[in-house]
Amino acid sequence: MQVTKVALVGMGTVGTGVVRLLYDQGDRTARHAGQILWLEEVVVHDLKKGREVQLPKGLISDDLARITDNPEIKVVAHLVGGLEPARTILLQLLEAGKDVVTANKALLAEHGPELFDRARELGRSIAFDAAVAGGIPIITNIGQCFSANQIQSLRGILNGTSNFIVSQMEEQGADYAAALAEAQKRGFAEADPTMDVDGSDAAQKLAILAHLAFGARVHWTEIPRVGIDKLDPADLKYAKELGYRIKLIAVAQLQPGGLELHVSPTLVKVGTPLAEVRQAFNAISVVGDAVGPVFFHGLGAGQMPTASAVVADMIDTAVGRTQITFRTLELWSQKEAAVKMLDH
Ligand code: NDP
Ligand code: HSE
Repeated sequence: MQVTKVALVGMGTVGTGVVRLLYDQGDRTARHAGQILWLEEVVVHDLKKGREVQLPKGLISDDLARITDNPEIKVVAHLVGGLEPARTILLQLLEAGKDVVTANKALLAEHGPELFDRARELGRSIAFDAAVAGGIPIITNIGQCFSANQIQSLRGILNGTSNFIVSQMEEQGADYAAALAEAQKRGFAEADPTMDVDGSDAAQKLAILAHLAFGARVHWTEIPRVGIDKLDPADLKYAKELGYRIKLIAVAQLQPGGLELHVSPTLVKVGTPLAEVRQAFNAISVVGDAVGPVFFHGLGAGQMPTASAVVADMIDTAVGRTQITFRTLELWSQKEAAVKMLDH
């Protein structure tokens, strides 16, 4: 069977899940890829840190050159958060001729045009299904499966940490700080959870989806956003008494004059699909003019759901199923927006 050598940069929550899938489920991966994805190198920041999964001696290092200087490594999962050094690392991987899979939405929302332009110039790909809604294959669906549609609207819960916190407060009576600490312990939150709870992470994901679905060139900071950090426990109590839950909802709605975009805690009626999205689950309701309404629901954060999306992208990249990525590169490289964002 053919072998494709792959590597990881980052072995934290998500990277550990990717190692588990590549090692423990190698047969499954080989069956779907028709080839073996062979983990050749893992590069991390701090070699002294204890790891949940022990790797064979010599496989893990803190030296990126072991990947960039190895021409046999074709596909690299980039699982480092934040902007720098994540941006520089991703560019170094592209320059070294690697196809990249990333889960870093903050990086794409901030530097997407630069990164996708460079990938295009170098004839390389960047796949990123894990960057929005964790295990839900929303990028592939928007970018590929709904290509025959003009999408009319996207409405959803895009931040697992916020949904987890609000669920814990509603269902267990947990206080905000304890629920946030638990979300961090379970690996849902970003290294700095501020962007999870103030609506920024959801706005970054919404900007990426708006780009793919509507050709909108919106910087995430332009999207009006309010997070759950502004909620008072009394808000949840009164909502419950009235038959509602409060969810952090991200909206992209095509209007006659342009695209309406916002992220905010919103009252949703108990019994409706979005109200029943609990814990670290995400959900997205998509309306296309041909397909009509489609609803996605699944785990939006956490080790194995996110690793599921990363490894699927690694397989697709290894076998050359990169149409979605090339279409995405073109979309990202368009200088003119297909639709303008409405002023708020
Ligand atoms: P972690 O903080 O758990 O892991 C980050 C990893 O990056 C660590 O292994 C760290 O090394 C490594 N790293 C940091 N700097 C460098 C460097 N200079 N060179 C090499 N490695 C480096 O993050 P997550 O796994 O949670 O998240 C990774 C990405 O996935 C982020 O962009 C996040 O937004 C995204 N994501 C996360 C999800 C989740 O549920 N956690 C879900 C969807 C997306 P070391 O271990 O030595 O410190
Ligand atoms: N911190 C993010 C969240 C991880 O809680 O949704 C998934 O992108």
